[in-house]
Amino acid sequence: MENLRRIVNRIAYTPRSQPLSSTLSPLHLSIIPLLLLSSSLYRIILSFRHTLYHFGFIPKHRLPVPVISVGNLTWGGNGKTPMVEFVANCLVNDVGISPLILTRGYGGADEAKMIQRHFSGTSVKIGVGANRAATAASFLHRHGFIYPLDIACFEEGVPKTRAVSDKIGVAILDDGMQHISMSRDLEIVMVNALSPWGNHHLLPYGPLREPLTSFCRADAAVIHHADMVPNESLSVIKSEILDVNRFLPIYLSSMAPSHFFKAENTSCQLHLGHIFEKTVLCVSAIGSPDSFVQKIEKMGPFYVDRLDYSDHHQFQDKDIKMIKARLENLENKFGSKPTIVVTEKDYDRDSKILGGLDPFEVLVLCCKLQILSQSGCSEDSFKKLLTQSLSSTGKIHC
Ligand SMILES: *[C@@H]1O[C@H](CO)[C@@H](O)[C@H](O)[C@H]1NC(C)=O
Ligand SMILES: *[C@@H]1O[C@H](CO)[C@@H](O)[C@H](O)[C@H]1NC(C)=O
Ligand SMILES: *[C@@H]1O[C@H](CO)[C@@H](O)[C@H](O)[C@H]1NC(C)=O
Repeated sequence: MENLRRIVNRIAYTPRSQPLSSTLSPLHLSIIPLLLLSSSLYRIILSFRHTLYHFGFIPKHRLPVPVISVGNLTWGGNGKTPMVEFVANCLVNDVGISPLILTRGYGGADEAKMIQRHFSGTSVKIGVGANRAATAASFLHRHGFIYPLDIACFEEGVPKTRAVSDKIGVAILDDGMQHISMSRDLEIVMVNALSPWGNHHLLPYGPLREPLTSFCRADAAVIHHADMVPNESLSVIKSEILDVNRFLPIYLSSMAPSHFFKAENTSCQLHLGHIFEKTVLCVSAIGSPDSFVQKIEKMGPFYVDRLDYSDHHQFQDKDIKMIKARLENLENKFGSKPTIVVTEKDYDRDSKILGGLDPFEVLVLCCKLQILSQSGCSEDSFKKLLTQSLSSTGKIHC
């Protein structure tokens, strides 16, 4: 089963320009017609479902507060969770309203744990559950709700006064693109610059959960990891989006390091300069270890060593032994205790096992999504888009 999944994944993410026959055996190639047929069926069901909602045969569920959806068209890749956090932070800090994040809580418990840790002690609420309408109802009932217009005064969509309320003022729908049964006031679609749409086909033959024409329903597209691909690739992705929706604002985003915390004590936060001129060992089990190591190198350490494990790898005692041996080598070589740096994902997967690295210092690198400024689209204009949706100014649809 795992094997089949890997092959289907390979087929889906092989760009159109690359012949599949060069990477797959004839037996594996023989499943392609079946996948294509399933993709066609999927397309029919999808469009039927959209038609039913569009003409009101099935009523949409409307929450009493504005809804901002953050979604994607493909499976795999990333950027959705950091964007949900970015939106929540903006609403809480800039507008002063309390958001309710509605997440299905799927895609790994480490992710849900991370969101909860980031927002502990704030007025952001996190509702986890597959039935998001039911989850929302129970949170709105428990905490009460308030319409943003009632607490903040908006002028051309920009809040002029900042009031603070602990009642829920807005809902953020995590992975909301396909969740069409709930009405939304703003649709943000994330695109992963590193693997935008694979072979351009729908599931299961391709990675697309919806055709690219779904950009018609979007209010903004955000190309994530934009700093990790050449400018030409960004231009290609942008023009493919604009082909579908000529007026869609397109933003670029990336992950920027913000600080470290100590693995043994999450409330002990450290400045990025903490590793300046130190010997560092980067340990990670994530999809793109290069970008992690590059970020550490930019902080001016004396020497950087690295140990990369496969994505989602669960650290075992034997791994800890090996990491320790590497650390002792570094200590002998440079005469001082090296520092270990891991990513938040690695920390949340199993924070206890890292304790085995004592007496070496283990730091966890925290990153935040940032919007990059380019041709008229900046963090400020993105935030304006968010706040405008709260006062429900008109929406353009193609
Ligand atoms: C897209 O949505 C699926 C859930 O259906 C999720 O597993 C995946 O991580 C998402 N991709 C991105 C780019 O966040
Ligand atoms: C890509 O574009 C950005 C901004 O337009 C520019 O700062 C950067 O130097 C460009 N990078 C390359 C590799 O051309
Ligand atoms: C954790 O760190 C915080 C902030 O530096 C400190 O106040 C607290 O005493 C530490 N807790 C423990 C158990 O060491």
